[in-house]
Amino acid sequence: MKKQFLSFIILVSSIAFLFSSCSHDEMIRLDSPDGKNNIVFILKDGNPYYQIIRDKRLVVDTSALGFELKDMLPLEGDFKMEKAVMSGNHERWETVWGQRNKVMDHHSKLTVTLKEQKEPNRLLELEFAAFDDGVAFRYSVPEQEGLKNLEIMKEATKFRLAEDFSAWWIPGDYDNHEFLYKNTPVSAIDSANTPLTMESSDSLCLSIHEAAPVNYPEMRLKRSKEEPTTLLCDLVPWPDGVKAKVEVPFKTPWRTIQLASAASDLITSTMILNLNEPNAIEETSWIRPMKYIGIWWGMHIGKYTWAIGPKHGATTENTKAYIDFAAENGIPGVLVEGWNKEWENWVDGVEFPMTKAYPDYDLEQVASYAGNKGVYLIAHNETAANAEWYEKEVDSAFALYQRLGIHAVKTGYVGKIRPLGQYHHGQWMVNHQARVIEKAAEHQLMIDAHETVKATGLERTWPNFMTREWARGNEYEAWSEGNPPDHTCILPFTRVLAGPLDYTPGIIGIYFKDYKPDNRIHTTLAKQLALMVVIYSPFQMAADLIENYKDHPAFQFIRDVPADWDNTVVLNGKIGDFVTIARKKNNIWYIGSITDENKREFSFLLDFLDEKVNYQAVIYADGPGADWVSNPADYIIEKKL
Ligand code: NOJ
Ligand code: CA
Repeated sequence: MKKQFLSFIILVSSIAFLFSSCSHDEMIRLDSPDGKNNIVFILKDGNPYYQIIRDKRLVVDTSALGFELKDMLPLEGDFKMEKAVMSGNHERWETVWGQRNKVMDHHSKLTVTLKEQKEPNRLLELEFAAFDDGVAFRYSVPEQEGLKNLEIMKEATKFRLAEDFSAWWIPGDYDNHEFLYKNTPVSAIDSANTPLTMESSDSLCLSIHEAAPVNYPEMRLKRSKEEPTTLLCDLVPWPDGVKAKVEVPFKTPWRTIQLASAASDLITSTMILNLNEPNAIEETSWIRPMKYIGIWWGMHIGKYTWAIGPKHGATTENTKAYIDFAAENGIPGVLVEGWNKEWENWVDGVEFPMTKAYPDYDLEQVASYAGNKGVYLIAHNETAANAEWYEKEVDSAFALYQRLGIHAVKTGYVGKIRPLGQYHHGQWMVNHQARVIEKAAEHQLMIDAHETVKATGLERTWPNFMTREWARGNEYEAWSEGNPPDHTCILPFTRVLAGPLDYTPGIIGIYFKDYKPDNRIHTTLAKQLALMVVIYSPFQMAADLIENYKDHPAFQFIRDVPADWDNTVVLNGKIGDFVTIARKKNNIWYIGSITDENKREFSFLLDFLDEKVNYQAVIYADGPGADWVSNPADYIIEKKL
């Protein structure tokens, strides 16, 4: 058996020491199709490890794998290799929607089966995958006698980074993810959430995240106390401290490490999608990527209230005005928040009824009005984090929405999770979100989820899971110190690598002095337009009040810009400083270019354009006197033939 592996063995100096006379030591290298990325499986003295190498440079040094289990011996050592199988995939699959209409899945794969040498002789499988845009691995515990239920106390996975990379990170909180990013060396991280994006001084970029989680908690990264550049897998626990409660057989999510030689190449990585299972929804004609407006910003800036009263936003009349505006301007969707009862009674754990409207909101009438105008109404289900209650409401709510011709729901989980003691990102909530998505698919409903579990590419399997927030969005501009201009120059290289983000851009009323004189948008007007291209979301909100859009020349861009793309190209980018993304729909290209607080001018080649076509350019840009602090609304519209 050993012979069969010899051809995959390499002698990289830093790992050569692992060859020993012990007959159970093994080393197998898996190469990406272009050969640049390598993931090495190592079995040393019965313990499994992995290493990651890119372009012959060690990126992740020999790192441990395994589990600590409740009332059982750890599953992490005393192994011998039973089997190792190499395979691969090379196919192009079609997306239901996305940043491109076709995705190439080209990777090599290695599955290693390990067996404990002593009793209880348990089996553990490790799957490794190597793509040109990164590498990944996951654990699989196959069906076996005597092993039924496992309580995982710790996933022993380590990421022993070979360098003290510069990292962009938010804290590894178990409930919250709405933070501004910090940029420090890895050695200054305490705990971080993923995607954790890092860069070396010579532009090697990597991002650690996860893909395809099913019935498993989310991973946070904790920095090791002993080794300054080692990150430890930290799973979000159950109230009793157990990390994951699983039934054999099971697979963990993929642990993903995207790799690129330039930060801009991270953005076009498709590895996370490729690691998810194919589309599980047969009939997808009801799934529609779209722009939407909403009775929403008005509440955040204090023009309207969610609760019933003199400033109630979700009235039948106001909703009809939003529907009219959407229909007149080719905006497919309208979100209405504050339509259902109980907003005035919001306390922790409040049980929001998901079928009962306030008396000044005629749900049936509004739904049929929207239907007649060809506008998609987006229902809002704020759960106040009472997910336990939501599971009781969801059947009747989704059945009602389907009967009324509603095709989309925005959910939200503000507050302390119920069942009490659960975290937003533990296994229970991962499963709750899966239950809601599947239930939504049964009722032909698309979902936009706020304060939910992290994006991990699950939208490939469930393409009705359109978008989610899971980041500090534009709403913070309305009621906090706001988002500094570099925030949106970090998001495309971090959070958005994981999947679509409902950032809610498009606020062209930079100041809202009538309502919140101390708050403002921390960008120029032109940047708010550019964000609609830069921050990918198949439900893309044009978030401003309709009166701010009405008769505004810059609104033409919002009318025109699609929310679904045939292709995406990244033209430049530096994490936290600037990024330029070109996206194509039919034969039109849209280019969004954003910068942080510093003014910049770029030139880039338009070599993605078709030589045989004569193009016309319409440019929306900062005006000559624009300055995000003192003159943010100065913009120009220029046409070039
Ligand atoms: C927080 C969400 O992010 C926001 O979009 C929503 O309006 C409020 N919760 C109320 O549900
Ligand atoms: Ca939020």
